[in-house]
Amino acid sequence: MNMQYRKLRGTDLKLSVLGMGCSSFWALKSTPEETAISLLQHAYDKGINFFDTGSSYADGNAERRLGKFINSIERSSVVVSTKAGTKQASMGNATKDFSPKAIRESVAESLERLNTEYIDILFLHSPKLDELSSELFNEIEKLIDEGKIRFAGVHSSDKVVVDTVKSIDCFTVFLSDFNLTRASFETTINDIANLNKGFIAATPLAQMLFTNKIFFPTSKKDFWYLARALKNRRKQLINSFKLRFASQLPNIPAEAVALNFALDNKHVSSAIFGTTQHKNIDKNIEALTFSIPQEVFNKIRRIKLPFRE
Ligand SMILES: NC(=O)c1ccc[n+]([C@@H]2O[C@H](COP(=O)([O-])OP(=O)(O)OC[C@H]3O[C@@H](n4cnc5c(N)ncnc54)[C@H](OP(=O)(O)O)[C@@H]3O)[C@@H](O)[C@H]2O)c1
Repeated sequence: MNMQYRKLRGTDLKLSVLGMGCSSFWALKSTPEETAISLLQHAYDKGINFFDTGSSYADGNAERRLGKFINSIERSSVVVSTKAGTKQASMGNATKDFSPKAIRESVAESLERLNTEYIDILFLHSPKLDELSSELFNEIEKLIDEGKIRFAGVHSSDKVVVDTVKSIDCFTVFLSDFNLTRASFETTINDIANLNKGFIAATPLAQMLFTNKIFFPTSKKDFWYLARALKNRRKQLINSFKLRFASQLPNIPAEAVALNFALDNKHVSSAIFGTTQHKNIDKNIEALTFSIPQEVFNKIRRIKLPFRE
């Protein structure tokens, strides 16, 4: 199947409709570095040109791994996004600092780890409204003028935050969890498009919480995914039972329903999934060839689940 590409509003970037998320178990030492990098190469060979990571993911290891891959290809053939504003603390928790100085330092460190002279999109990593300031917006404009970042935006899955900051001039792109458990986020996506700004969907597979897969761990990695869901997304996990039907349709795999749902909204330029398996990259690309009956999407949209806790 040939990969499809969509323009990212407000930018001159064209993204593959599937992007690779360079985070979570992929970034940890438990996934050998050689495997992690070969997954990126595999995705790239299949036409995926968009790679998202974060400065705090695996304490910088995610960026380091992506940087090694970037070093092996033509830089201009990929779009790279990363995040600033959080640092990994102990027990997987993060500390936050959105001061202009901290964001500038974070960008400098990311450029080094990513082996690149510029970051295509810099997202502020889940800021609260009171963590944003006009000094920060000025610093972001400076980083753009200096060519260190090409575009800036906000990563947040908090609807109130995104609705509030979407019209701030220096933010051109928004990255939020958008998947079948968060159908009502579409109003925000449409508003962003009306401002001629770009939107990218994170966790488009809803971390497979709507399938039985999550409850039958067979490996250390699967136990890690289950523990993460129980720690961070317990309510979403319970609410997702209402969407079980979407993983049990005859002849349509769960990932095909999830990815096509996220991409059914044409304002979503790319849906970035995470994986540690080559075969799942293939399955996710294959998923794009399925045609999902519109009534399935309508049913998903009617099930209005409360947003992530
Ligand atoms: N998690 C967040 O809170 C968050 C926040 C901001 C941004 N993001 C961005 O969004 C990206 C994706 O997030 P995510 O990885 O948390 O969620 P996701 O892509 O919705 O789900 C990943 C999960 O789905 C599994 N999977 C992938 N393809 C599959 C397939 N075809 N069949 C069955 N299982 C499949 C993966 O397991 P295997 O490893 O076994 O394939 C993993 O457990 C991140 O990498 C990051 O760039 C995430």
